[in-house]
Amino acid sequence: MRAPVPTVGAALAAVARAGLVVLAGCAAVAGEPPARPPGTDGLSVLQGADCAVCHAIPGVEAPPRTASCVGCHVWVRTVAQNPNARAVAMTVFPKWERYERTVRSYAEVPDLGVAAARLDPAWWARYLQDPHDLRPSMDETMVRVGLDAAQLDAIAAWAAERAVPVAATPRPDRANLARGEALFATKGCVACHTFGAHATGPGIPSAPDLRHARDRMTDDALVAWIVDPKAMSAGATMPALGVTRDEAIALRDWLVLTPPGGARPAAPGALPIVTRPVAYAEVEEKVIGKICIHCHMDPAQNEGRAGPGNAGGFGWPATGIELQTVASVRAHGPDIVAALLRRRDEAARDVVRPGEVPATLTRPEKPGMPLGLPPIPDEDIALVVAWLAQGAPE
Ligand code: HEC
Ligand code: HEC
Ligand code: HEC
Ligand code: HEC
Repeated sequence: MRAPVPTVGAALAAVARAGLVVLAGCAAVAGEPPARPPGTDGLSVLQGADCAVCHAIPGVEAPPRTASCVGCHVWVRTVAQNPNARAVAMTVFPKWERYERTVRSYAEVPDLGVAAARLDPAWWARYLQDPHDLRPSMDETMVRVGLDAAQLDAIAAWAAERAVPVAATPRPDRANLARGEALFATKGCVACHTFGAHATGPGIPSAPDLRHARDRMTDDALVAWIVDPKAMSAGATMPALGVTRDEAIALRDWLVLTPPGGARPAAPGALPIVTRPVAYAEVEEKVIGKICIHCHMDPAQNEGRAGPGNAGGFGWPATGIELQTVASVRAHGPDIVAALLRRRDEAARDVVRPGEVPATLTRPEKPGMPLGLPPIPDEDIALVVAWLAQGAPE
């Protein structure tokens, strides 16, 4: 038998019992909130589909840190910056230094209040139907959700109630293109944003690629946002850059009228073939233990918590699949490979160009794995395939 993977939740609960939670400045609560079936109004769909484990959402209470992907990951990174808290954490968690090295996802997930204030509600429903990559230097992508059309419409209606009304502006005009392009450089936009093939970054992870702005925002909302993001939503992190309304119109015109360019990624080719013997330790280290177990937990090793991949979440029903024991990984081998290959196919769809959504995209019946994260590299998928073909040894 392999040693059990670290039980972070259990250890955190122990910290809470020992009164050490002062470390993080907030109380840790053990246990996972019971899965609720999504309701019919927007707020209850957002609550029932556990959107708040990743997003800040106005009107929805943030889940306790032990149940929040963002809350716990940010906590690990915060403790890592504080020498005193770090010293305590190292005595409580034998693998703390490893946690600091591994935890990288969910440091900056967009605030849905800010998104609702500026984005076109019709875009919400299209995007949630089949999400695509918006932020090129952020590895995480939006998870594909298991909600039906009525539930997605309810979320879009929730967003529509929060869309900020804005003043009418002149129609985009090609005469403004050169001025808009020059302002993009002189006003510093390029420090944070990519824009298709015109500004290739890297930019900052939280700033969207502006190639999608024409699909996501109305012409009028773009101008209002560029002049003063915080006037549209107090939670906006983009600063006002001293741009006049007139300059904002020129910037908007360049952003919405310029073909964004950029190549479509090639469809995935054949997987490499691994012929050497593959032990489970390698599969666990490079694929299953590194990524999958964080959503497919074994309740017996985690004080009853199973994670969304096992107990259901984001609108998907429970699968009953834990991936912390080799027996379970073995038993679900063919489904695992199929799920890894689906994510590989989705990755080409993640890159969409303006106007391509949703015409060329339809929602897959089942999402690829790992859900919401980049596909596993081909050479590592090939390892899983080889291990299974060799009889899935310990
Ligand atoms: C596991 C984490 C996770 C969960 C759960 C999650 N999201 Fe997201 N979501 C993300 C990430 C990461 C992004 C940013 C993706 C990008 O920029 O490409 C995102 C982006 C979005 C955006 C675009 C916002 C913007 O500013 O660009 C919307 C809208 C959204 N999510 C809605 C939802 C809803 C509704 C739910 C629940 C049904 C949900 N999300 C659940 C991680 C998550
Ligand atoms: C109680 C704290 C905690 C919670 C809650 C939590 N994580 Fe983590 N997560 C960790 C720690 C600690 C690690 C590093 C584990 C290791 O190195 O063994 C980790 C690692 C990961 C990794 C691999 C490294 C990375 O950052 O990409 C993924 C993926 C992940 N978690 C996803 C999630 C998702 C999705 C959720 C919410 C459904 C979640 N986690 C909730 C603490 C947590
Ligand atoms: C310091 C970094 C930074 C700078 C500089 C910056 N932005 Fe942003 N911008 C962001 C972030 C982050 C967001 C995402 C929303 C948020 O959190 O405020 C954003 C969002 C946007 C959006 C919404 C796009 C979408 O698809 O949601 C537009 C349009 C935009 N910025 C245009 C500009 C323009 C034009 C400039 C230059 C005048 C500029 N930005 C300068 C960080 C920046
Ligand atoms: C962010 C959380 C998350 C991560 C990370 C994740 N899963 Fe999942 N997984 C889910 C959810 C939710 C479902 C249910 C979706 C469905 O009904 O197919 C699921 C379903 C599955 C299924 C069942 C698919 C079927 O045929 O019904 C398999 C197999 C699976 N995941 C394997 C993996 C593997 C392998 C990894 C790591 C590479 C992984 N998962 C990472 C959340 C996750």
